[in-house]
Amino acid sequence: MRKRSPWAVAGIATMALSLAACGSSSDKSNNSSGASGSSKPASGKVGVILPDASTSPRWESQDRPQLTAALKNAGLTPDIQNAGGDKSKFGTICDGMINSGVKVLMIVNLDSESGTACLKKAQTAGVKTIDYDRLTLGGGASYYVSFDNVAVGKLIGEGLQKCLTDKGKTSGVRIVYINGDPTDNNAALFKQGYAAALQPLIASGKYKLVGDQTGNWDATKAGTAFEQLYTQNGGKIDGVVSANDTMAQGIIARLKANNLNGKVPVTGQDASTDGLRSILTGDQCMTVYKSIKKEAAAAAALSSALISGKDAGTIATGTVQDTVLKKAVPSALQTPQSIFKSNVKDVVTDGAATVAQLCAGAAYAATCKSLGIS
Ligand code: BGC
Repeated sequence: MRKRSPWAVAGIATMALSLAACGSSSDKSNNSSGASGSSKPASGKVGVILPDASTSPRWESQDRPQLTAALKNAGLTPDIQNAGGDKSKFGTICDGMINSGVKVLMIVNLDSESGTACLKKAQTAGVKTIDYDRLTLGGGASYYVSFDNVAVGKLIGEGLQKCLTDKGKTSGVRIVYINGDPTDNNAALFKQGYAAALQPLIASGKYKLVGDQTGNWDATKAGTAFEQLYTQNGGKIDGVVSANDTMAQGIIARLKANNLNGKVPVTGQDASTDGLRSILTGDQCMTVYKSIKKEAAAAAALSSALISGKDAGTIATGTVQDTVLKKAVPSALQTPQSIFKSNVKDVVTDGAATVAQLCAGAAYAATCKSLGIS
């Protein structure tokens, strides 16, 4: 399922002399509408490096169009390219963007090392840097734009508990974790969230964690990891934490092969089309919806602030710890929402999925109708 969209190569190189550095203080003493200096709107090129097109459809189907729109809206010129999961290509794109005179470089890293290398080069060249969605540990980006990713994990853990309770399973419950890619700091934050949510149930002996593996943000690898745990446990698994929808698809395929789909609840994240359709059929129990529109809007607002040297204290209101630099990075964090069958409609209402995408096919159409998705 390797989709490849044409990489946008457009972009008018605008000469950029870097403006005053932005003090990242979240000092509330000066809130006189933010502008410190020029009143003309920010302009210039903003480079965005997306990680790949396979670990989640979001990067090409949501982030690219939403970032394009948000940056253009802010009067900026987007240059969005996708590294296709290839670290050396990531480096090449990074060099090219810096050489082309981007004023801000925003990255979704493929790992800390290659992400840091890119951010450092940008900083040396006087280009402002933003970590988009994934924090680059040790990278020293000016801002981090993402969701509260521990909260995302909490929703996953609480969601699994609800799904199991709805099936009458409240004790003697055997669960497994299929985690995200360990090179992605988010995978650790998500796990922190679901482990904390499920910990009291495990501590009380009602739940037992009988497997804890990575699925590397890959459907096939997640399916294989699940199958191994299923075999090791003699088929006795009652619920599965899957850290995203892509991996959930691989796990559901293995459950289907064992005639257990719909019986063993599986979680997810991203509210992808496939994930939502699996929720409609009951094969997946829940997902976490993250409004990419809001994430992209925050990223564009921060780019604009960095370029014009404005205080961004009202946009980056939170912090996330860079555990390598031992530094709190000013962060704009959006709030995630859990999605079960009963509120799949919310994603459509919010414009992140269409009726045509979710309800194609007779079986889906009937469910959509009964849920008021039309
Ligand atoms: C993102 C998720 C995505 C995963 C795989 C994470 O960093 O936050 O939305 O599913 O990467 O691409």
